[in-house]
Amino acid sequence: MKENLINSAIDVLDANFQKGGFTIPSEGLYPFQWKWDSGFIAIGLSHYNIEKAKAEIKTLLDAQWENGFIPHIVFHNENKSYFPGADFHRSELHPLSSKKFKSTGMTQPPVTGFVLQEMYRIAEDKEDMLNFIKDNIDKVYQNHGYFYKHRDPQDEGLMYIYHNWESGTDNSPVWDDIWDTMNPPEYNFERKDTTHVDASQRPSNREYDHYLHIIEIAKEHNYDDAKIAELSPFLVQDPLFNAMLIKSNQALLELYELIGGKEAEKLNLRQWQKKSISRFNQKLFNKELGAYVHYDLRNEKAIPLVSSSSFSPLFAGIPDQERAEILLKTMLDKFGGDDKYLCASFDPTDERFDPKKYWRGPVWINMNWLLYYGLKNYGFAKAAERIKADSVELIERDGFFEYFDCRKETGESKRTGYGGNNFSWSAALLIDLLKN
Ligand code: SER
Repeated sequence: MKENLINSAIDVLDANFQKGGFTIPSEGLYPFQWKWDSGFIAIGLSHYNIEKAKAEIKTLLDAQWENGFIPHIVFHNENKSYFPGADFHRSELHPLSSKKFKSTGMTQPPVTGFVLQEMYRIAEDKEDMLNFIKDNIDKVYQNHGYFYKHRDPQDEGLMYIYHNWESGTDNSPVWDDIWDTMNPPEYNFERKDTTHVDASQRPSNREYDHYLHIIEIAKEHNYDDAKIAELSPFLVQDPLFNAMLIKSNQALLELYELIGGKEAEKLNLRQWQKKSISRFNQKLFNKELGAYVHYDLRNEKAIPLVSSSSFSPLFAGIPDQERAEILLKTMLDKFGGDDKYLCASFDPTDERFDPKKYWRGPVWINMNWLLYYGLKNYGFAKAAERIKADSVELIERDGFFEYFDCRKETGESKRTGYGGNNFSWSAALLIDLLKN
C-alpha cells in the first residue's frame, strides 16, 4: 500500500516535470515555476531522483535578480492559461530584475535555505550533495541579505510582505480587515483559475481587485522597495514567512559550518537569528489566543486571528518549550476535535472559516509537513503522528489534491479534495512523510 502510494506520487511529479528542468505545481492551473512550491518539490524529488531535485533548485536560482531577490513565479514559457501573467507583472520595470527570465515582482516564503539542508539529509552521496550546496548556497544567502536590507524598515529582524501572494496563504481571512481599508477600482480582467477549478474553491473577483491593485501601485514605482514600504496599503509581518526565513537562516549557518570558511556570512547569520527570534517572540505572540499572529505594519496593529501559520514557528524552533506547549494546546482545542483532520488552514471555530475555499479553512499538505516536523522536534510525538496519519489518509482517499476538507463528515456522498489535482507538493511531501 505504502509503496503504491509512493509510486503514484512519483508519477504525479514526473508528469509535472518540464523540459526546462523545473516542476509545475499543477497542470492548467499553475503552468510555471513557483518559489516555495519548487522547494517542497525538490524535497520529494531528492528521495528518488537527486539530479531532478538539483535542477529544480538551479532553475529557480537562475531567475534571481541582481539584488538577491527571488521572485514568486518564474515565467519560463509563454502560457495563456494563467492570469495574471508576465505581461501583467512586468518584472522588467525593476532595473535589477533578471535579464534572462520574466517573473513577478513579488516573492514567497523563503524555504530554499532549509530545503538545501533537507536535500543533504536525504541524499545518499553526501559529498556530491555538499558540492552542489557549495555552488549554490551563496545565492540563497544573498536572498536573505536582500530581505534584511530591504524588507525590514524599522530594523526589527522581522520582514514585511507587501502582497498577500507573498505569504503563500493567498485568501486567508487574516487579510479581510486590510481589504476593508482599501477601495480599489473594479478591474476588467479575465480569470483563468476559475476555468480550471470551481469558483467556490477560489478567491472572489473582488478579492482579485485588491490583489491587482497592490501590484499596480508597486509597478507605478518600478517595484522599488522603499516606495513599496512607504505606499503599499498591504504591509504585513507574517509569522509563517518569518518562521521560514529563520529556519532557513539556521540551515544556511549549519551548512556553512559544514563547508568551512565564510566567516562574515556566518557572523551575519548569527546576528540575524538573534535579532529575529527575539523580536518574533516579543511582537508576534498573542497571549490571550495562545498563538502567534500576523502584525499589520501599515495600520500598526496585531491581527488577532489564529491560522495554521500561527503554529509554523514550531518548525523553526522559535518558541521555548513552555510556549510550544501552549501552541499545542491551542492547536488541539481549536483545530483538533475528533470530527476533524489536522490541520485546517484557518481557525474552524471562527465565523470566517470556510471548509472549501483555498486558504480560508482547507488542510494543506505543506503546512502539515512543517507542523509534523515542528511538533516532533518539541517531543509532541502523538500530535506529530496524528498530523502525518491524517495527511496520508486524506491523500490516499481523495487523491493528490491541492487542498482538503478538514471535516471528517462533509455531508456530501462523494468525497474529493479541492483545487488543482495531481498537485506537485502534495505528492512530493507525501513521499518524504512515508520515507521518514
Ligand atoms: N497562488 C496564486 C494563484 O492562485 C499565485 O501565487 O495564482
